[in-house]
Amino acid sequence: MSKRIAVIRGDGIGPEIVDATLEVLNYLEVPLEYVFIDAGLARWKREGVPISEKDLEIIEKCDAVLKGPIATPVDRKGYRSVNVLLRRFLDLYANIRFFKSNPLSPVKNLDIVFFRENTEGLYSGVELRPLPGIAISLRVITEHASRRILLRAFKYAVENSRKKVTVVHKANILRETCGLFLETAEEIARDFPQIEVEYSIVDATAYKLIRNPDNFDVIVTTNMFGDILTDEIAALVGSIGLVPACNLGDKYAMFEAVHGAAFDIAGKGIANPIGLMLSAAYMLRYLGFRREADRLENAIWRVLSLGNVLTPDLGGTSTTRELIREVINFLVSDSGHCL
Ligand code: IPM
Ligand code: MN
Repeated sequence: MSKRIAVIRGDGIGPEIVDATLEVLNYLEVPLEYVFIDAGLARWKREGVPISEKDLEIIEKCDAVLKGPIATPVDRKGYRSVNVLLRRFLDLYANIRFFKSNPLSPVKNLDIVFFRENTEGLYSGVELRPLPGIAISLRVITEHASRRILLRAFKYAVENSRKKVTVVHKANILRETCGLFLETAEEIARDFPQIEVEYSIVDATAYKLIRNPDNFDVIVTTNMFGDILTDEIAALVGSIGLVPACNLGDKYAMFEAVHGAAFDIAGKGIANPIGLMLSAAYMLRYLGFRREADRLENAIWRVLSLGNVLTPDLGGTSTTRELIREVINFLVSDSGHCL
């Protein structure tokens, strides 16, 4: 039976990389049916809403969401991030980002799976200016949300033969919010004696990630720390354009790349679609199409290994179209079996 995918093409380079990904998925012959949803800054400018209630109802009925980057500008009053809205609406509490060295990476042997809490913390949206000259953002941390992201990270570690989980916090200063996250982590860690647990303060973690990246395995942390650290680790992979991500809840799933809308290169035909293609591989796996997911990852790996068809962000001079053709060539030449 075919799976229904809500596709959000997004802003900036979004439409180019989403179309590239769908073109490549087409060669895998998986039974997918697409429902296109128009959401983002462009729609907000046109209609005053970035996504409608009706769209949200359609999304809820789909098996997964594949999403291009949606811009969240700093200077638009009244514009709320669609990324954050979807994560909260679908209760996608785990933002899981995968960082693996590839033949182009400046850092070898990197293999980090990052679990970022995705629904609360400094993203709770509770902000006010109670008096002129004073601004407050509430960092809401609940035991419920901490428990479920921590559990997900520890379970992932066990199920994927990982050895260590690093819990990142700043409980020396944020005694209540990070304190609760840390206490919950200590309690959960007791149920996973086979996993080595490391507690690491966020600023020191940022330093250690550059100094000794291979000391990290699975990392779990709160929302904003995760946002910042994952961009840092992306640099170790070689480009933020190569990093895939899943946003998972208990009922829904959304797959997106980690990078933004890159308006500076939009429409030039040189955007790198690999982050989204790799995210689509995770979507295939989530939907039960494991073999096809492996084939897609293998084809991309071969493109990166060969290294002669690369977009400018990877140091090459190729276009998105040439890259798509290269991925498809590898998919076709490898058809039917995975490496
Ligand atoms: C990300 C992005 C988003 C975030 C923005 C666009 C709301 O930076 O997915 O990491 O801050 O989570
Ligand atoms: Mn981010």
